[in-house]
Amino acid sequence: MLKTFDIDEVEEGMFVDSIAKQQGKFKITSRGRVTSLAAIKQLKKKGILSVVVDLSRQLKSEVVEQEEKQEEPEAPAELPEEISFEAELEVAVKLHAKGKHLQKSILESVGKNLPVDIAIPEAFTNNLVSSIDRNPNALMCMTKIREKDTYLLEHSLNVAILLANFATHVGLDEEQIQELALSGFLHDIGKIKIPDEILHKPGRLNDQEMTIMKDHVYYGTKVLVEMGMPDSIVRTIGEHHERLDGYGYPEGLRGDEITQFGRMIAIVDTYDAITADRCYKVGMSSKKALQILLQDAPEKYDEGLVTQFVQCIGIFPVGSLVKLNNEKIAMVLKQHPIHATKPVVKVFYSIRGNHYLEPKELNLAAASNGVKIVDAVIASDFKLDFNKYFNESIVV
Ligand SMILES: [Fe+2]
Repeated sequence: MLKTFDIDEVEEGMFVDSIAKQQGKFKITSRGRVTSLAAIKQLKKKGILSVVVDLSRQLKSEVVEQEEKQEEPEAPAELPEEISFEAELEVAVKLHAKGKHLQKSILESVGKNLPVDIAIPEAFTNNLVSSIDRNPNALMCMTKIREKDTYLLEHSLNVAILLANFATHVGLDEEQIQELALSGFLHDIGKIKIPDEILHKPGRLNDQEMTIMKDHVYYGTKVLVEMGMPDSIVRTIGEHHERLDGYGYPEGLRGDEITQFGRMIAIVDTYDAITADRCYKVGMSSKKALQILLQDAPEKYDEGLVTQFVQCIGIFPVGSLVKLNNEKIAMVLKQHPIHATKPVVKVFYSIRGNHYLEPKELNLAAASNGVKIVDAVIASDFKLDFNKYFNESIVV
């Protein structure tokens, strides 16, 4: 029983079969039930004017819902996606490689006091935002790919990706999202002016070294002003190490003196730094990093924003590894819009057998024979070469 509804008449629980009328090229690749007001807002944002709703599916699912109420809440259908994960991953892999290359060449130019054309990183980060708009999971997955000696390049790129996702999550407009992506991409360029022995020191910096390291914010903002970067971006970058309690640097700003964008970049920068593998330490799990941020709020970080960041990243972020109750390891591919503990995963390793498996997709929200996540894990816990697995089995 199909009926066309104006987008403003669409309600939670309706089963969307297809698009009736639209502006733009948005495509629904899988039909699904509208699970939240945010989903309706997202459809509107994509230019959807009216949709065809399958009323029989709606009624049927309501009956199923009634029947299943005793046991467990029904897992609603996924949000329709514009582009599939696999299709967007092809773009994301290229963007990720290009981002590292571009970051390297900008750092080299800044290091040699050569001019940098801001239109180039701007065009690049706008492309990042477009990829996130099409399917955020692809680039989010790429943030889990770490190589040993390229921390600075990957960290800046990751902060751009994570920040754009975070900005989208909190409902900022496209221009603000693009501004934050660019701020993330360039936030640490001042580090090129820091002597190598301090920048690459394998271990904690002593007080004197830390004082020198802190200057990267000063150098970075100075270069950005010379580049002609807008004031708001310079300010966001200048605030990425400021903390609400006044114990941050370089200015020791407090509370309201720090902008919303400055608070957001501080959260994302810390999260990525904690989860990164360095030559002297293994990165912590995402869960641990989120716990640290929650512990340090509201003293150091904006509590409301940390809470929203936790929701944005999820307990089991896309690209992270999880241990299942059947003694297998899987990578999270896609989060469930409601049930944070029931993402779509790719199972690829047997702990019992100590060997890789033929990768298999599993939707933990659908019938999965009682398979569930036991815990978040990191690759080194099981001596897994995750990068190799990712390149050989996910990117095809
Ligand atoms: Fe920094």
